[in-house]
Amino acid sequence: MKAVICKEYGDFHDLAIEEMDNPIPGPGQVCIDVKAAGMNFPDLLLVQGRYQMKPPTPFVPGAECAGIISAIGEGVSRFSIGDRVIAYTLNGAFAQKVLAAETSLAPLPEGMDFDVGAGITTTYATSYYALKQRARLQKGENLVVLGAAGGVGLAAVELGAAMGARVIAAASTEEKLDLCMAHDADSRINYEKEDLKAAIKDATDSKGADVIYDPVGDKYAEPALRAIGWNGRYLVVGFAAGEIPKIPLNLVLLKTASLVGVFWGAFAMRDPAAHAQNMAEIFDFYQKGKIKATVTRRYGLDDFMQGFEDLANRRAKGKLVLISS
Ligand SMILES: NC(=O)c1ccc[n+]([C@@H]2O[C@H](COP(=O)([O-])OP(=O)(O)OC[C@H]3O[C@@H](n4cnc5c(N)ncnc54)[C@H](OP(=O)(O)O)[C@@H]3O)[C@@H](O)[C@H]2O)c1
Repeated sequence: MKAVICKEYGDFHDLAIEEMDNPIPGPGQVCIDVKAAGMNFPDLLLVQGRYQMKPPTPFVPGAECAGIISAIGEGVSRFSIGDRVIAYTLNGAFAQKVLAAETSLAPLPEGMDFDVGAGITTTYATSYYALKQRARLQKGENLVVLGAAGGVGLAAVELGAAMGARVIAAASTEEKLDLCMAHDADSRINYEKEDLKAAIKDATDSKGADVIYDPVGDKYAEPALRAIGWNGRYLVVGFAAGEIPKIPLNLVLLKTASLVGVFWGAFAMRDPAAHAQNMAEIFDFYQKGKIKATVTRRYGLDDFMQGFEDLANRRAKGKLVLISS
């Protein structure tokens, strides 16, 4: 089979496609013929050696995919050869075949294409966990999403709207903001042109944001936090812009606000039942047309480098997917 190989941590340009032996499932595992794999910013951080986890090299990146089960290992009882599944694999998915634990599988929902299923876990599960469990977002609340046209950002925009919030999308270009408006944002802020704090105040009738979803960090975090409302919740999701911000804690005290950490991968491992329930609710939103979960860019497996270039150079919009076959 063909696979993207990371031989050592560092420059993503050193990644290459190589021929490898087909993987054989061990106990509790299945082998999936990958149809499509989701590409996310954490894949970039992982190959650069900047992610929380560091699998031993060489390894195949790619944390999530959708495909068809082609072999099963001993003890697998809930799935069979031929089943169409979504898998969260941690790595290995940028390949034609990947091994996955049975416990990491969900059936591909009726009516969902492989490419949509491939990209729905990391982005939507992260944003839903953040908004539902961590922020306890309520109907009618103001939700500000930074980096709103990115992978997790656009998912937060759609899920926030589906949960009945008033969604204010903040991003760096008009084109990105147009995408957010097409995905159910109520209003828009271009944080490269506008003063972010003043714009959030304006967009919320001076009340401030009830919830701020921040996957960007860096220079955007403090002005956003300065525009949080009374009892607001500030979701710390990631630092795609580079720097991990240092926050003056008096800002939190003055609004009785909460700074809330979000680590979806650890949540899914610690509480698989709650994660499975979240995924069921996300699939339900999709089937009822409340979220679109659109794939915005598809790359062939051989063109994987372009996906990494787009993520690294702030060009990615929405959901990126590698098509394996
Ligand atoms: N906490 C969790 O459980 C969890 C789960 C998944 C992902 N994450 C994190 O969430 C962040 C976003 O992931 P993603 O897959 O949504 O990434 P993405 O699609 O690349 O989106 C990131 C957004 O950040 C903004 N950005 C600002 N400066 C940037 C820069 N120098 N380079 C790249 N982007 C920049 C961009 O929006 P503008 O151009 O509009 O500013 C971009 O749309 C990452 O840090 C990732 O590690 C966290």
